[in-house]
Parts: sequence; structure tokens; C-alpha cells
Amino acid sequence: MKVAVLGAAGGIGQALALLLKNQLPADSTLSLYDVAPITPGVAADLSHIPTAVEVEGFAGEDATPALHGADVVLIAAGVARKPGLDRNDLFKFNASIVRDLVAKIAKICPEALIAIITNPVNSTVAIAAEVLKKAGVYDKNKLFGITTLDSIRSNTFVAKLKNKQPQDITVPVIGGHSGTTILPLLSQIPGISFTEKEVTDLTKRIQDAGTEVVKAKAGGGSATLSMGEAAARFALSLVRALQGESGIVECAYVDAVENDEKYKYAPFFAQPVLLDKDGITERKGLGVLSPYEQEALQKMLKVLNEDIASGKDFVNLPSL
Ligand SMILES: NC(=O)c1ccc[n+]([C@@H]2O[C@H](COP(=O)([O-])OP(=O)(O)OC[C@H]3O[C@@H](n4cnc5c(N)ncnc54)[C@H](O)[C@@H]3O)[C@@H](O)[C@H]2O)c1
Repeated sequence: MKVAVLGAAGGIGQALALLLKNQLPADSTLSLYDVAPITPGVAADLSHIPTAVEVEGFAGEDATPALHGADVVLIAAGVARKPGLDRNDLFKFNASIVRDLVAKIAKICPEALIAIITNPVNSTVAIAAEVLKKAGVYDKNKLFGITTLDSIRSNTFVAKLKNKQPQDITVPVIGGHSGTTILPLLSQIPGISFTEKEVTDLTKRIQDAGTEVVKAKAGGGSATLSMGEAAARFALSLVRALQGESGIVECAYVDAVENDEKYKYAPFFAQPVLLDKDGITERKGLGVLSPYEQEALQKMLKVLNEDIASGKDFVNLPSL
């Protein structure tokens, strides 16, 4: 297995690389790339940890050497939020970074599973899909926006509120990855119920959790450690699925697939997906939504569809 991390010298990239160095299967290769000159040093540093995972690091303008033979590519390259910025404010910095990196992936490792961390995820995944389509290598089952942080935050907050162990809670989170497009399905946690106020308050806290961290870091960036953990969990699920393990389900922001029931909401939609060695093998249903969740779903659609359209337009209308 070869896993490439692009943006590997950043806050998320370094946390993610550390977790992968410790948790990837033996004999894997972890390939780190970043424009920052520190990247080979990050790789050298990690390589002293005694696990059977090879680490290589590349800096500079060209990601090519990191991508050769990659099975999974994780993209965390770009600018992070500061207080006062929402995820969409990052579009002007990050859209071209994701476009150019995905164009490289299309050329060097078109078969790889691609998982995008870089915000605004609602738009950057749409950008990646358009770039891959233009290159003639788009596979709707191999492109993911990582929304695992929304899931693990939900699990943590619910466990705290209900006095449970966080590892025993799984909250499906659907929609997108910004503000009201993040919709935790609190009605679908076996054995746990909430008052109406708890649902409203928890939903809002989960939607605003990223901003909670941005404010607390006071200009020093956004979530990096919890996101490193979230991305590592998701990446390890992809790796296990590639290695033939069955029954792995993760929520992720993916192509909703034309003709599918969920496509009526938006062309890309975060939902539970079943993984196998070819990526997504099944888009699981959303289950039964409570009236509150149905209303929240309808309300998010305008924003979500606009975010997706801006990603598509960025690639197809280059004058923008
Ligand atoms: N999906 C999520 O849930 C989630 C959560 C938190 C943050 N994020 C996003 O992840 C991204 C990274 O956040 P961070 O805190 O690690 O930021 P950071 O600034 O610490 O790191 C970003 C890294 O990207 C590198 N970079 C910039 N342009 C590059 C390019 N063209 N090629 C390769 N590397 C490049 C930088 O040198 C830097 O090392 C941000 O866009 C942030 O908004 C996503």
C-alpha cells in the first residue's frame, strides 16, 4: 500500500502523517509532499519511529515523485481558517491548489482513491471531479470529501451529554461540510433519545465546532489534531477496504450518482457509503429522518448546490 499525503508539512498533514506512520499496515509506504522545504525533514523525523512503514518526503513545486504508484492520495494542501473567515472564504486560495494537484494525480496515479480535506470541501470535491472528468479518468466511486471530523465530533459531544463512552456512539452525518450543510442524524443513534432543545443545541454545536476551535486558537489556525485523527481513521478505512476487508461503512461527501434517489438533493452529498477494493461499492440509504432533520435537509440544499456549482464553474469557466 502506498499512501500519499499532499500538504504534509502543515498542521493537519504532520498530525496525519504521524498517525499513519504508526498505524498503516507493515510494508506500506507513506509518501509526503508539500511546497514547504521542511517536508523531507518531516519525513526524516518520522522515519526514526520504529514501525515497518517506509516514509519518503518531497518538497518543491511538483508532486509527481510522491504520487508514483500511490493507492490512496490525501489532500490537505492549502490555507486554513482564521477568526472571521468561513470555509467559503478559503475558496480563492484553495480552489487552484486542489485543481492543480488533482490534475497531477490524474496524470500520475489515476487509479488511486482520492480523499480531500482541503476546504471548502463542498466545492473542492466538485473541482476535483471536473478536473478528473476533463482528463478522462473520473471514477465517481474513488473520490471522497473527508467529513469524518463531523462524525467524530458528533460522537464525542453526544457521549458527553448522555454519559456514554464515545467509542460506543456512531452518529451518521449527512449533507456537506460547512455550517448548516452539516446535518448529524441524532434520531438514528440506537438506544439514545433527545429532547427537542437538545437536538437543536447539539446540531448547532456540531455545525459550529470548527469555528469553536478557530476562535480558541485565536489566529493560529483551525482544527489540526482532531482533523489529523479524523483523516487517519478515514484513510485507514480506505486502506483496509483496498486490502479486501468487507463491511466497512464510512460517512463521506461523495458523488451522489445520477438516477439515485439522493441525487435529487445535490450532485455531491455526504452519506454513509460501503467501501471495497474499488472504492465505494454501495451508497447506503439515509434511513428514516425525523421531521426536524427533513426540514434541515431541505433548508441546506440551496447553499450546498451553490457551493457545488461554484466548484464546477471554477474549472469550466476559467475566466472566473
Ligand atoms: N475536512 C475537514 O474537516 C477539515 C478540517 C480542518 C481543516 N481543513 C482544511 O484543511 C486544510 C489544511 O489545514 P491545515 O490546518 O493543515 O493548514 P496549514 O496551513 O497548517 O497547512 C497547509 C499546508 O499546505 C501546504 N501547501 C500550500 N499549497 C500547497 C501546494 N500547492 N501543494 C502542496 N502543499 C501546499 C502548505 O505549505 C502547508 O504546509 C485547510 O484548507 C483547512 O481549511 C479541513
